[in-house]
Amino acid sequence: MILKKEIGRRRTFGIISHPDAGKTTLTEKLLLFGGAIQEAGAVKSNKVKKGATSDFMEIERQRGISVATSVLAFEYNGIKINILDTPGHKDFAEDTFRTLTAVDSVIVVIDVAKGVEEQTEKLVEVCRMRNIPMIVFINKMDREGKDAFELLDEIEQKLGLTVTPLSFPIGMGYDFKGIYNIWEKNINLFSGDPRKDIEETIEINDLNTPELDLLVGEKAAHLLREELELIHGIYNPFDKESYLEGKMQPVFFGSALNNFGVRELLDCFVEIAPKPRPKQSNTRLVHPEEKEFSGFVFKIHANMDPKHRDRLAFVKIVSGIFERNKAYLHVRSNKKMKFSSPNAFFAEKKEIVDTSYPGDIVGLHDTGNFKIGDTLTEGEIMQYKGIPSFSPEYFRYINNADPMKTKQLEKGIDQLMDEGVAQLFTLEMNGRKVIGTVGALQFEVIQYRLEHEYGATCSYENLNVYKACWIEPEDLKGLEFKDFLRVKNKYLAKDKRGHLVFLADSSFTLEMTQQKYPKVKLHLVSEYK
Ligand code: G4P
Repeated sequence: MILKKEIGRRRTFGIISHPDAGKTTLTEKLLLFGGAIQEAGAVKSNKVKKGATSDFMEIERQRGISVATSVLAFEYNGIKINILDTPGHKDFAEDTFRTLTAVDSVIVVIDVAKGVEEQTEKLVEVCRMRNIPMIVFINKMDREGKDAFELLDEIEQKLGLTVTPLSFPIGMGYDFKGIYNIWEKNINLFSGDPRKDIEETIEINDLNTPELDLLVGEKAAHLLREELELIHGIYNPFDKESYLEGKMQPVFFGSALNNFGVRELLDCFVEIAPKPRPKQSNTRLVHPEEKEFSGFVFKIHANMDPKHRDRLAFVKIVSGIFERNKAYLHVRSNKKMKFSSPNAFFAEKKEIVDTSYPGDIVGLHDTGNFKIGDTLTEGEIMQYKGIPSFSPEYFRYINNADPMKTKQLEKGIDQLMDEGVAQLFTLEMNGRKVIGTVGALQFEVIQYRLEHEYGATCSYENLNVYKACWIEPEDLKGLEFKDFLRVKNKYLAKDKRGHLVFLADSSFTLEMTQQKYPKVKLHLVSEYK
């Protein structure tokens, strides 16, 4: 009974956006509504400051903040909301992709002036492929920006979404008068005073009422009536089922900085956003309501205090009740483990908890047993699917710069890879180690952390690789596969899990290789089935 009730009141989601669109500001305003923080400015931005790519203190600062903001939980009208942080910086995109495996829905923030930007496109594509329900929030309406209809068009075209506005702006920038809330049928007038937490709302059940003209002026009222008519003509009315299936995306307009349109977004969110959803494992679909606990690791944070080799593994609870000090099976190692001090996350602090429910995230202290993607159960042998590795974009040989510290280097590399900072490939030909990353920044992060946390020094050497492709032979003993192994030997490597990978040096090579060996399938994602 209690399990069902707790599941029903949980909403776990992520906010995605291109850097600077307003993710941090919106998060902060949502927390203010939940009473989880008292003042603006309490949530620190986790972005890497511009031009800070070689400033290691900046990297550490960012890491420190991202522990504090990894999970922000608060209560709003009896609903327990968990916001999972997603780094906007493209060099940390892989982190964000993994976090998206642990959310049940997302809010996409778009800057009204900049429209759809590169990172938004990539992240929305991942959500679309997984049918994750999305709500769009168009931010910075207090500034001059694109015409609302034009922007809705752009969102449909570039992001491949089917939108339906649930609110609509009255004017914009200098002329921004407020928002008509189509969902609640009322008007919210813009005062431009960010200290006003809750704006005054005025019920408008009949758009033809002269009160509207008095409130926003005749011209704006006339335009609004026309625009709303147009909306009814162009866009399908909101349908909750379609939204939950990822087939329709409601849109809200507002200004996070001015705390405007945020309450409307939140009220609608708690009403329509999905509670924790079932998740596919390699053996079956697991439902949150099942009695037995299960969950998976989607993020690992390591060594915040270099004096203690301590890591925090973030586990999303998929089913059952997680209990402190109960023995759970770590499926990959087939070992039972107990956790005496699991952390639950609140706005900005973490606390030890005795029980947690599906949708919640628990932070488990770990001395090096966990890898991203690991599954915990009460004994069932199964593995949650859906945490893929993508081909890195940058590749370099990593060399040991201090032969006296070989062990430290190996341990450091091993742990950083488990944490998901980068991927390691070992060449079949000569055992040399290659590091692959999503962004150039990671090489510096690795070098810095190896030195400061493990006392090891490394150097890099360039390597011409375009993409890493995971290999799926149709027939292991087939002649074609044998020939492929012989001819391409120089370009073959094993990833950290021992899977065979082909390191293609150009898109041309990749294409030619695939043509020559059609029975050897090459995949740019590790989890291709
Ligand atoms: P991010 O997490 O998505 O990267 O964005 P963040 O919230 O940090 O916002 C980026 C910038 O946009 C910030 O300004 C923030 O104040 C501003 N901003 C956010 N929402 C609104 C809005 O509704 N209207 C306007 N006009 N600006 C908005 P900054 O100058 O880069 O930083 P700060 O010094 O203000 O913190």
